[in-house]
Amino acid sequence: QESWQVAVMPGDGIGPEVMAATRHALEALPGPALVLTELGWPAHAWHRDHGEMMPADWRGQLAGYDALLLGALGDPGPSHDAQRYCLPDGVSLAPLLQLRKGLDLWACERPAVPLAGAPMPLSDPRALHTDLLVIRENSEGEYVDQGGRLAAGTPRETATQLEVFTRAGTERIIRHAFERAARRAEERRQGLRAPRYAAADGAADAAVCVVTKRNAVQYAGELWSEVFAEVAAEYPGIATHHELIDACCMKFVSQPWQFDVVVASNLHGDILTDLAAVLAGGMGVAPSANLNPADRSVPPLFEPTHGSAPDIAGADRAHPAAMLLTAAAMLEWMGEVDPVAARSAVQLQRAVAEDIAEHGMGGRGCAEVGRAVAQRIRTAGAPSA
Ligand code: IPM
Ligand code: MN
Repeated sequence: QESWQVAVMPGDGIGPEVMAATRHALEALPGPALVLTELGWPAHAWHRDHGEMMPADWRGQLAGYDALLLGALGDPGPSHDAQRYCLPDGVSLAPLLQLRKGLDLWACERPAVPLAGAPMPLSDPRALHTDLLVIRENSEGEYVDQGGRLAAGTPRETATQLEVFTRAGTERIIRHAFERAARRAEERRQGLRAPRYAAADGAADAAVCVVTKRNAVQYAGELWSEVFAEVAAEYPGIATHHELIDACCMKFVSQPWQFDVVVASNLHGDILTDLAAVLAGGMGVAPSANLNPADRSVPPLFEPTHGSAPDIAGADRAHPAAMLLTAAAMLEWMGEVDPVAARSAVQLQRAVAEDIAEHGMGGRGCAEVGRAVAQRIRTAGAPSA
């Protein structure tokens, strides 16, 4: 590919500053040619002027890009009228779910690998060997927005919230998890990824853990378990295990190094990925990718797992690591078809890791970190193949 068209959406709060720092780093890379087009939406500033977070034809406008890079969304100021997506503090996040669902980005990938120099909440030294990838179902499950409040405001009020799991939606996300596990096994064989550490399943090169709550949420659990077994049979070299979401949370804390790929529903994946972020150094270092693995013509959305942190917005105090690693995830995706991008992804990841190992996460401004990472990329040169 000659060049990649990227829509850059800095968004709200700390979004613009972490995005600016990230652009410095991207410019320092030897390639690929990225054509970055900055959009003023989705954002609250746009809402102030237009009465909505995004233009009505947002989907058509975004379809022309190869990839979307988003900073952060949310502004605690007086919010717009899409009440159902407003958190109690009035922060509006509607476009996040609109983008993911409207573009059919049904797979969300959130890796967790601890970074030396970033906070590590676990004292067990084995936790430093954690290298897991949560694959979160991104299009259905608990996020289908079906249900309602009956007899609202009365003592008999009843709120219902439907979860919907289709066989097709479940199968494609589970299959994607196995595909990723197979790729990680290949990376380990090539020495590009550390070998599995003290895996509970012994010698397998890769493992997929499926997460449900089948002891209480029966039908969804049955479907997920059944489909998981069917797909797993096609990947005999990959170890499998099943965890209930509650036990899985416990094991993420007590023995995270035993996980490899973890596949979970929308809500379970949401919860697990905040937990996974903390294992890797906090929300400040957690990247995220929303993809349609079946169709590369759909522009994926790359966004840090963190929010807009309005309390420190504009103060040059945010650390851009999560945004930088999110940009690296974008390069990794481009790298599936573009070797220059694949090398740049590694270079960017390495520069961020080295910067944090040397300086830790605090004490420097956002822009300063961006310049330092860019400088490190320039002096390090290309990684050996
Ligand atoms: C995330 C966020 C969103 C989600 C919220 C803001 C709707 O928590 O990206 O994980 O639940 O997906
Ligand atoms: Mn979340």
